[in-house]
Amino acid sequence: MVVNAVEINDVCVKFNKHPVLQDINLSIEINDFLAIIGPNGGGKSTLLKIILGLVTVDQGEVKIFGEDPGNPSNPIGYLPQHVSFDPDFPINVFETVLSGRYHGFFKKYSDEDRIKVTDALREVGMLEMQDRQMSQLSGGQMQRVFIARAIVREPKLLLLDEPMASIDPEMQNSFYNLLLKLRERMAIVLVSHDVGAVSSHVENIACLNRKLYYHGAVEYAAASLEKMYKCPIDLLSHGIPHRVLKKH
Ligand SMILES: Nc1ncnc2c1ncn2[C@@H]1O[C@H](COP(=O)(O)OP(=O)(O)OP(=O)(O)O)[C@@H](O)[C@H]1O
Ligand SMILES: [Mg+2]
Repeated sequence: MVVNAVEINDVCVKFNKHPVLQDINLSIEINDFLAIIGPNGGGKSTLLKIILGLVTVDQGEVKIFGEDPGNPSNPIGYLPQHVSFDPDFPINVFETVLSGRYHGFFKKYSDEDRIKVTDALREVGMLEMQDRQMSQLSGGQMQRVFIARAIVREPKLLLLDEPMASIDPEMQNSFYNLLLKLRERMAIVLVSHDVGAVSSHVENIACLNRKLYYHGAVEYAAASLEKMYKCPIDLLSHGIPHRVLKKH
């Protein structure tokens, strides 16, 4: 039997008695590259936190590689939507990624940890900047470092919550190329507002607005997103074609 990276069945979540996610069903295969799009407050970040085991569900079942969420034997790479980071805190690129290998207060980092950090930095193209202070990086460079930290435990699942927010269009292309490389060895879930940009790179698309609308493969999704007024989209002009979801 093939075990999926993520299996979510009939999940409901309420915050303060208010339903935030309703009847969510979602399977993510081990080699999937899934984009989750949808309006503000639609529940995208909450869904990622359910997968991570940071939010418990009121109803339904969640399995990550066949286990309950939060199982340390299934490390998940995670890039939160808002990385809490003090720009004045003196920490360099290498130390930032090393912190992704944290084993607990009393355990020191090993040589293997340092080798993994070097590998991750090389992978994201930031090895040459390993000694640079984080406060001296551009937004795009910083995102790459956070990706390196997210993959430094060699996860089989990578969750990225709006990673493109501070990245310009040119940088976005190289960012997607990095993700295409990573997906050869992990499932990737990418939360984004930008339907136009994601649809040319990911494999499957789902829309989330309290309920989940799974559109499947991108080539069909693009057509159905346009046609199905269940899921209307607008065209905005930002120099490049750029589409944003409205209310479902
Ligand atoms: N810890 C919490 N307690 C109470 N309500 C919450 C909590 N976290 C999120 N919510 C509410 O749940 C809903 C979904 O929030 P969520 O952050 O998952 O949306 P989102 O799709 O990620 O939005 P955005 O695109 O703005 O990031 C929102 O109405 C939000 O106010
Ligand atoms: Mg969010």
